[in-house]
Amino acid sequence: MSPPTKTRLELTWIGKETRPRLEPRILIEDPERSYHAPHRVTPNDQFDNRLIFGDNLLALKALEAELAGKVKCVFIDPPYNTGSAFEHYDDGVEHSLWLSLLRDRLELTRRLLGPDGSLWITVDDNEAHYLKVLCDEVFGRSNFVANAVWQKKYTVANDAKWLSDNHDHVLVYALNKETWRPYRLMRSEEMDARYRNPDNHPKGPWKATPLYAKQTGSTEEKSRRFLFKNGVAWSAPPGTSPRFPDDKLRELDANNEIWFGGDGTASPSRKTFLNELKLLGPPAPTIWLHSDVGHNHEAREEAKACNPSDPFGTPKPERLLRRVLELATQPGDLVLDSFAGSGTTGAVAQKMSRRWVMVELGEHCHTHIIPRLRKVIDGQDPGGITEQVGWQGGGGFRYYRLAPSLLEKDRFGNWVINKQYNAAMLAEAVCKLHGFRYAPSDSVYWQQGQSTERDFLYVTTQTLTAGQLQILSDDVGTERTLLVCCGAFRGNPRDWPNLTVEKIPKAVLDRCEWGKDDYSLQIANLPQAPAGGHVADGPGQPGEPERNTSATEAARAGRRRVSAAVPNLNLFDPPPSGKGD
Ligand SMILES: C[S@@+](CC[C@H](N)C(=O)[O-])C[C@H]1O[C@@H](n2cnc3c(N)ncnc32)[C@H](O)[C@@H]1O
Repeated sequence: MSPPTKTRLELTWIGKETRPRLEPRILIEDPERSYHAPHRVTPNDQFDNRLIFGDNLLALKALEAELAGKVKCVFIDPPYNTGSAFEHYDDGVEHSLWLSLLRDRLELTRRLLGPDGSLWITVDDNEAHYLKVLCDEVFGRSNFVANAVWQKKYTVANDAKWLSDNHDHVLVYALNKETWRPYRLMRSEEMDARYRNPDNHPKGPWKATPLYAKQTGSTEEKSRRFLFKNGVAWSAPPGTSPRFPDDKLRELDANNEIWFGGDGTASPSRKTFLNELKLLGPPAPTIWLHSDVGHNHEAREEAKACNPSDPFGTPKPERLLRRVLELATQPGDLVLDSFAGSGTTGAVAQKMSRRWVMVELGEHCHTHIIPRLRKVIDGQDPGGITEQVGWQGGGGFRYYRLAPSLLEKDRFGNWVINKQYNAAMLAEAVCKLHGFRYAPSDSVYWQQGQSTERDFLYVTTQTLTAGQLQILSDDVGTERTLLVCCGAFRGNPRDWPNLTVEKIPKAVLDRCEWGKDDYSLQIANLPQAPAGGHVADGPGQPGEPERNTSATEAARAGRRRVSAAVPNLNLFDPPPSGKGD
């Protein structure tokens, strides 16, 4: 009998099994690039925002300890993998690479989401359906909320070879769909205008709504008759049932909340008052029209207004982000975008009083995002949603870059502590590595990190003598414990039961990959196809343009275009055993 086969339904691709072992880097603020309004404009101003320059995989790892379970909404607009090169980055990552790149980032992203958190991804037809399956795997199929269709373009392309491509997808996942609910859309002026007050009712504008509902009650209930105080006898129309019991109808009648038409002859209906609506707006539909949430051309105009001489190539319209943030967050909630582009998410979050974190690898982090955000904070950006939300400026952000790897190789090929690290950086990095909170005490030199109220961490590159360790142990006492990370030590650690002594870097060498700054999954890093595995013909998929290399590599290079030969890979290659032939 053949052994049981793997029955899980899953998408496979070359390199799927390879997972990065990420170093939890520290983040270093550059105050020269951070920016804050000089004073508060409103009590809701958000100053606590972060712009991180660097690869988003390392950045997400760097944020993990602090933000795990705290993010309310993640919006990402990753390179679409269309095979075309844009001016500020190149998104033609080969199909398998693209999937691996996204999978690793999605897994980390999921850990950052809070229990009421949700993920929103824009993607086009090239990868949307693969991405859906991938997200099902990472988030659980039961947490798929919707695939909203966004009308990104309102004109039909007359030169379309097949169908004119007018939409993108917005994939929506909740961390826990059972409990997660989107907020309602804001009421529009048009919706409110349907509420009037022709009889000058003291409760204000109202709209007439039926006194009956779908057929639900018993036969007796359906044929119930009610006599209003003006003598009108009413029963629910055939096929329906009364919505309210007699007591409620009597109460509404007594309060003049039944409408019999302008001349008193219409079939009675209920006055539903605008100020009593329980749900403020309607639920969002899954079709997002350009008239409601903007389109690509609008986004490009916004980008032009921000940076007339060099507009960002693939921005999203601010109204699209407003829709996402309106459905997923409330003021003060934390929003994350790890593919920041020109910074639309941060700009919109700022204008809507949400807190935000953005990550961007390309030089446009400095040339586009920072100038845009400065304008927003100064109240000098009249475009996008500024007028709709009444934005007047305020708040701020801190700019960070990723620290270099904690370890580097010396000229003999041995791992040593990176010379760029000073004592404070070293202490913070070692704390992060061990899952301690970096909290250096002003008065106690060995209290640099803390994991619990009584458990501390101390880092030094020195060699500690037995005498020094004894002094430390006496100071720590019997009620506390201390992890000592030092260059070397003398003596037997068992002599000091309240201390755990380890040598760095030796003790941490196996923890992760050191000295690796590039997780952009370049072709050269792709695992070899299994021996005997099928190799597809020609570059890319049939009918696709020749593809370029890593999006992240090109993103880093800013406007530099990178192109290289692409290996011949097919997502649905049969396994090496030949099964599936
Ligand atoms: C489609 S754009 C995002 C546009 C953005 N939504 C906007 O409105 O401007 C994708 C962005 O992801 C960035 N990116 C790609 N790979 C990245 C990586 N590994 N780390 C950080 N950013 C990355 C690219 O440089 C590019 O700016």
